[in-house]
Amino acid sequence: MAILIRGGTVVNHDHARRADVLVDGETIVAVAETIDAPAGAEVVDAGGTYVMPGGIDPHTHMEFPFMGTVSADDFEWGTKAALSGGTTMIVDFCIPAPGQSMLAAYQDWRHKAEKAAADYGFHMAVTSWSREVWEEMETVVRTYGINTFKHFMAYKGALMVNDDELYHSFRRCAELGAMPLVHAENGDVVFRLQQHYLEQGVTGPEGHAYSRPPEVEGEATNRAIMIADMAGSPLYVVHTSCRPAHEAIARARAAGKRVYGEPLIQHLVLDEDEYRNRDWDHAARRVMSPPFRPREHQASLWAGLQSGSLQVVATDHCSFTSEQKRMGRGDFTRIPNGTGGLEDRMPVLWTAGVNTGRLTREEFVAATSANIARILNIYPKKGAVAAGSDADIVIWDPRATKTISATRQVSRIDYNVFEGFSCTGLPVVTLSRGRIAWKEGDLRAERGEGRYVARDPFPAVHVANSTWRELNAPRAVERAEVTP
Ligand code: URP
Ligand code: ZN
Ligand code: ZN
Ligand code: ZN
Repeated sequence: MAILIRGGTVVNHDHARRADVLVDGETIVAVAETIDAPAGAEVVDAGGTYVMPGGIDPHTHMEFPFMGTVSADDFEWGTKAALSGGTTMIVDFCIPAPGQSMLAAYQDWRHKAEKAAADYGFHMAVTSWSREVWEEMETVVRTYGINTFKHFMAYKGALMVNDDELYHSFRRCAELGAMPLVHAENGDVVFRLQQHYLEQGVTGPEGHAYSRPPEVEGEATNRAIMIADMAGSPLYVVHTSCRPAHEAIARARAAGKRVYGEPLIQHLVLDEDEYRNRDWDHAARRVMSPPFRPREHQASLWAGLQSGSLQVVATDHCSFTSEQKRMGRGDFTRIPNGTGGLEDRMPVLWTAGVNTGRLTREEFVAATSANIARILNIYPKKGAVAAGSDADIVIWDPRATKTISATRQVSRIDYNVFEGFSCTGLPVVTLSRGRIAWKEGDLRAERGEGRYVARDPFPAVHVANSTWRELNAPRAVERAEVTP
């Protein structure tokens, strides 16, 4: 069926203009100043609103087996939460269990994701290194349509990989035209600091923050950047939370390195005082890695989004109920790490970013969809309101207001880390590949309607990197024969 979105202002990452948008089936077929409604088309009045690309959240963990439990939102409820907040695509982390092959993990994740109500893709995690992993990476890229590989520099004894493994995997990414991703925290130092604080009698959630200071993230970010440079690959740093990590990325970019950074909405607006709350549950619900930071780090992250040294705002949606968090009573290292945020990312970023003048409307679109679509090589199929793009659209009312409350959320957990936050600027309609998935509080998307989005490798970046490296490679100096 055709849908005509009439009278709104279309906002893309590079321009905004008054225009009507015609959707036919799953695709946007026209964007023009005035479009006559075809016979039988549903007309949606968008007067006074912004018509923007649906959000893309490149960092989620649905139904993820982690730290002795499984994250509470599955692909159905996670994507429904996303749609209700204007996000039309998620990219989840496919993480092989210890000893499991990437190919088997991929099948597991595809199966779990059959429930998704919105489109989705995957990143593949490299959690060990072997000949088998080297071979499987090619299948992952060429057959499964995954062009990103995640590496955990933290979670010692579980998911963590060492520098040797990073270097080998980054080299392999460069060969395959894939992008390495890192969770950058020095896992060895975190482990020692955890032991230290437990020995001092710090067993509560505040110990989580004390044992993961900005230094462990700054060091690991810098190390990953240097290893990627030596391996000849670009690098994407997930959940960049603090000034030292942002500065490492900004420095690398200023030196011509292709490095990208992803702050989370949580780190942009919440700070480490949350962990000193007298209520154990309140503090434990906010335990995630990296932890929330002192306020001055937020200013650095906002500056990064404004200046372009940081590109993407994500959520790392990995939700655990209060009951699950209580696994860590008496030992903060056992509190499952992760928070929610999928339905709140866009309203909170609009409120704290656009309404304060820190971001323009176009920069908001860049940070919530277009930049990541470009980094993941799915632009302009995703991330643009343009003829030929998928009809993933959010109609945004900049005057609409709400106060965030767990009692009204779609996510299946019993609290919300943004509880009480007043938003101005909300989605009124979310279209997911041409269907009205959510409209003014009415969730219409159905389980199973989402589709897997395969992504091609991006050889251009790698050709550029390797051409330059080849031209400038160290070579043996040719010398005349030395006669004794
Ligand atoms: O605390 C977090 N971030 N949990 C999810 C796993 C990860 O590190 O991204
Ligand atoms: Zn299945
Ligand atoms: Zn992480
Ligand atoms: Zn994560």
